Amino acid sequence: MKRTRIIALLLSDQAIGHVLIKGWVKTRRDAKDFSFIEINDGSCLQNIQVVADLGMANFDAVKKLSTGSAVAVHGALRPSPGKGQKWEIQALSIEIISIAPDEFPLQKKRHTDEFLRTISHLRPRTNKYGAAFRIRSTLSFAIHRFFQERGFAHVHTPILTGSDCEGAGELFQVTALDMENPPRSGGAIDYSRDFFHRSANLTVSGQLEAELFALALGDVYTFGPTFRAENSNTSRHAAEFWMVEPEMAFSDLNDDMDLAETFIRYLVTYALENCREDLGLFAGFVDKTLMDTLGIIAAKPFIRIPYAEAVDILSRSGHHFNFDVSFGTDLQTEHERYLAETHFNQPVIIYDYPKTIKPFYMRVNDNGGTVAAMDVIVPRIGEIIGGSQREERLDVLESRMAETGVPPENLWWYLDSRRFGSVPHSGFGLGFERLVMLVTGISNIRDVIPFPRTPGNIEF
Ligand code: 4AD
Ligand code: MG
Repeated sequence: MKRTRIIALLLSDQAIGHVLIKGWVKTRRDAKDFSFIEINDGSCLQNIQVVADLGMANFDAVKKLSTGSAVAVHGALRPSPGKGQKWEIQALSIEIISIAPDEFPLQKKRHTDEFLRTISHLRPRTNKYGAAFRIRSTLSFAIHRFFQERGFAHVHTPILTGSDCEGAGELFQVTALDMENPPRSGGAIDYSRDFFHRSANLTVSGQLEAELFALALGDVYTFGPTFRAENSNTSRHAAEFWMVEPEMAFSDLNDDMDLAETFIRYLVTYALENCREDLGLFAGFVDKTLMDTLGIIAAKPFIRIPYAEAVDILSRSGHHFNFDVSFGTDLQTEHERYLAETHFNQPVIIYDYPKTIKPFYMRVNDNGGTVAAMDVIVPRIGEIIGGSQREERLDVLESRMAETGVPPENLWWYLDSRRFGSVPHSGFGLGFERLVMLVTGISNIRDVIPFPRTPGNIEF
């Protein structure tokens, strides 16, 4: 028999009648002639209480049901006379699908996030991780909705590429060569005999391909996994993470900042409206300030300041930073968090960065020293979005590639887009995990992605 309702719908419909629920036992409590079993099917945070009684053929087996066991409960939904829940199911029958032995690690007690990471295959069954991954799913849907409502076309940019968008060289190489005995030419490995007849890697960003499509379809976005072999073991970096990258033709940096701000405020509002119950868990147990933070993001326009002003604020702050700031240095997370948390206490967009610290594709401003870049920084996280207006002038783009050591041969197709019908355009990348961190208050990126990949870690 298929299940007739999931618990989330049951609790929202509240239509009294017969239901078939399939799920896992959270806890069981026995009285003389009754057993009260809390069942969860993963569809929402709430469990449903199932009342089994003596009259049931397998009552003895039901009275032994352990935490983690799987059951199918057929019964009648009715208002609960007991305390603690409004609704319960009076069971007519309980089919035991499988019994979890006592070694099931998720017994009713609190576990540390560190321990739960070692059992990432089981942690979505806990309240906290179930809630986090439902919120992640809702945010993913909201991202598509935001762009589709506004006429952006979804482009599937490639995962395997021959180029390095960010030019930072943090690439995972992909090869089909026998690494024990690779073909060689001179001393070096001969990649012309590899699968693609050249060396290839996993993408660090879908931006360059998204730009090509923006110059054809107008407004586009890509949303997919990206890979960076940064050896930084921080709570905000993963080697595999998901990025949302919109790109708009006929737009400049102001349009880009407007889109980024509208986007984040839309997503936070969407979560507040659609993830109320799950957010309640995080506001109660993970970050007491969560609702205030999210409320401010949803309600208040973001601050916008040029990089030079940000540096000024930081250097006059009198605050001790581990890294010094002066015009020309990259802002560190500690600087970004100082601005977004201590100084402004709300999201800030910093724009017009020195060109020396930004990649080749960003549009050079008239002053020659800065580029039309922008980062959105938010409390508790720092950078959540990085974007820019793109360099649409072929000659300037070519000289920037030369300056930054990006070989033009690999990017002839990108340069072509500036040869044929080039237009001003802009876009950005939002780190999806950082968004989930922002919305849930979870402070480690390893805990917002189902199976985190970080240096030394690729279990599951
Ligand atoms: O600032 P980034 O490197 O920008 C780009 O990749 C551009 N090509 C985007 C574009 O303009 N289309 O990365 C964008 C965002 C960052 O702001 C951050 O939120 C996230 O991606 N990010 C990471 N998230 C998790 N782990 C990492 N290692 C990340 N690196 C960047
Ligand atoms: Mg960045």
